[in-house]
Amino acid sequence: MQRVFSGIQPSGIPTLGNYLGAIRNWVPMQDESECLFCVVDLHAITQRQDPKELLSNTREMAATLLACGLDLNKCTLFVQSHVPAHAQLGWVFNCIARMGWLNRMTQFKDKAGKNREEVSTGLFVYPNLMAADILVYHANVVPVGDDQKQHLELANDIAQKFNHDYGVDFFPNIQPMIQGVAARVMSLRDGTKKMSKSDPSDQSRINLTDDADLIADKIKRAKTDPDVLPDNLAALEGRPEARNLVGILAAVTGTTPEAVLAEHAGKGFGAFKPVLTEALVSHLTPIRAEMQRLLTDPGALDAELRRGAEKADAIAEPILKKTYEIVGF
Ligand code: ADP
Ligand code: NA
Repeated sequence: MQRVFSGIQPSGIPTLGNYLGAIRNWVPMQDESECLFCVVDLHAITQRQDPKELLSNTREMAATLLACGLDLNKCTLFVQSHVPAHAQLGWVFNCIARMGWLNRMTQFKDKAGKNREEVSTGLFVYPNLMAADILVYHANVVPVGDDQKQHLELANDIAQKFNHDYGVDFFPNIQPMIQGVAARVMSLRDGTKKMSKSDPSDQSRINLTDDADLIADKIKRAKTDPDVLPDNLAALEGRPEARNLVGILAAVTGTTPEAVLAEHAGKGFGAFKPVLTEALVSHLTPIRAEMQRLLTDPGALDAELRRGAEKADAIAEPILKKTYEIVGF
């Protein structure tokens, strides 16, 4: 049986990118595999978080995941800091991963920017903790957006080096499951950067909490070009903003970018944007309503998350114990 693990940071309000690239794809997996879904608050503090806001973002993220279709009868949903084995295995992996490996991580370079001396050391070793998140459950399938592919390769390097250094066959190989159509939703302001909930300098992103007017406004402002849409995908080469909007419409309407172009070829963005807005609003409105309903009873939500943590702990604890034995603790 496959065991699936995936995580999402409560580092802001979940975006359309998180939804199309990750959350939405988790829903059908619940029926096929044993699934663990985690709100990764330990990762969130790699960048400064206001404590009250972190707590409310954590709840909001959990509510979002449920509103998007995660079902507590079919999966385990919990908060990372509630299961100590993540941080414990993360330390072991800090001692397995090599500086050179982490130095190659493009997400660190993106997030640290020119500020390399000032970012937290946690941001640098973040991929080691991500490896621990997965391997502490011996999970073998990880659905993520394309932005996380390099981190998963690193997780496999860590697992292999651990197995090799200690002469064991203990940690499994992880298969990334990069999802097709909207594996990377780009920023509406700059089609060469990914849409991210945790980029404070870019407010163009569509949040799952946005109402219809706000969605319309953000799509209206989205950067485009003066050309009309072509009838084939290859012709969108060099037009990243146009490519992104076409990809988003394809993803929310459950079709392909090719099919979107077949339908809208010859239209300019003045005509295309209202179509996109309409599709987004009708798709996201029910999710937003359910999220708001769940947040009216935070006590019930917290209790569900505690139950989830107990279920997760029951799997992680024996694997951590065995790891400690292997290491010599
Ligand atoms: P963020 O960068 O928005 O803070 P996270 O690091 O919490 O996102 O990632 C949560 C999940 O959402 C991961 O599986 C990641 O691959 C996916 N994801 C994040 N941003 C995007 C995006 N712009 N397009 C597609 N998937 C994304
Ligand atoms: Na990220």
